Amino acid sequence: MKLQVKGITKVLPNDKKLLDQISFEVKKGEFVGIIGKSGAGKTLTLKCINGLLKPDSGSVCLIDEAGKIRELNRVKGKKLRETRQMIGVVFQGFHLVKRLTSLENVLIGRLGSISPWRSILLGFTDKEAHEALDLLEKVGIKDLAFRRLGSLSGGEMQRVAIARALFQSPAILLADEPIANLDPANALAIMQLLQPLKSKMPVVGVFHQPEMVARFCTRVIGLKNGQVIYDGEPRLEAAQLLEIYGEELGELSSLAY
Ligand SMILES: Nc1ncnc2c1ncn2[C@@H]1O[C@H](COP(=O)(O)OP(=O)(O)OP(=O)(O)O)[C@@H](O)[C@H]1O
Ligand SMILES: [Mg+2]
Repeated sequence: MKLQVKGITKVLPNDKKLLDQISFEVKKGEFVGIIGKSGAGKTLTLKCINGLLKPDSGSVCLIDEAGKIRELNRVKGKKLRETRQMIGVVFQGFHLVKRLTSLENVLIGRLGSISPWRSILLGFTDKEAHEALDLLEKVGIKDLAFRRLGSLSGGEMQRVAIARALFQSPAILLADEPIANLDPANALAIMQLLQPLKSKMPVVGVFHQPEMVARFCTRVIGLKNGQVIYDGEPRLEAAQLLEIYGEELGELSSLAY
């Protein structure tokens, strides 16, 4: 599977360009880190990729091994739901249900692909429950399967979110700041979980830690004012970081790694 983002643009009524001709491709085998200062357009870009937001122009396509192209902004209704189901999303704490257990939170990752009456009854099969348990084991928290999500730590919740995205059997994986607010050990553990997934699907993450991107990603994309200003090697020079994050960052030494 390949993700192809071509010239996506999002413009406000006052002509301010939030996204300005963003183009890039991510293939299976790649783990791409998107960096850029607050407001650069990172989250908006991910929202356009998973179909939560429709760009004013440009296209987002999923192209499978056989060359079949699914263009996100052209499909509607059931086809759109099917295409979105192919995109696994991990957002910080986002759309996890606090009053349900970890296991139930993983199970609801597949709701988009089962019939509505089943989703209401939460009637999952034993096989599905075992699959979900296996995923919780994979992310290292099988023992928390029956704990209420609301009682988990941030790092543990993040693992549930990853297990849930994987339970959906996605063809690509998007993660918006998956290691924000995590201590260094948990941040490292989450990066170690995400990195090997690239062998199965294209993985795209938004990060505020250039040093983590340099260590774990295969490529980095630098966004500034809604534009791609860097796309290449994950280890950036100090001058490149300064360009991406802007002069107001002040002391360069704070970014040394
Ligand atoms: N619906 C909207 N209407 C107007 N402006 C918007 C809207 N949604 C986002 N923006 C603006 O678009 C810009 C990019 O937002 P985005 O959420 O992509 O930033 P980001 O790069 O993810 O930043 P952060 O690192 O803080 O998460 C911001 O200036 C934001 O205020
Ligand atoms: Mg954001």
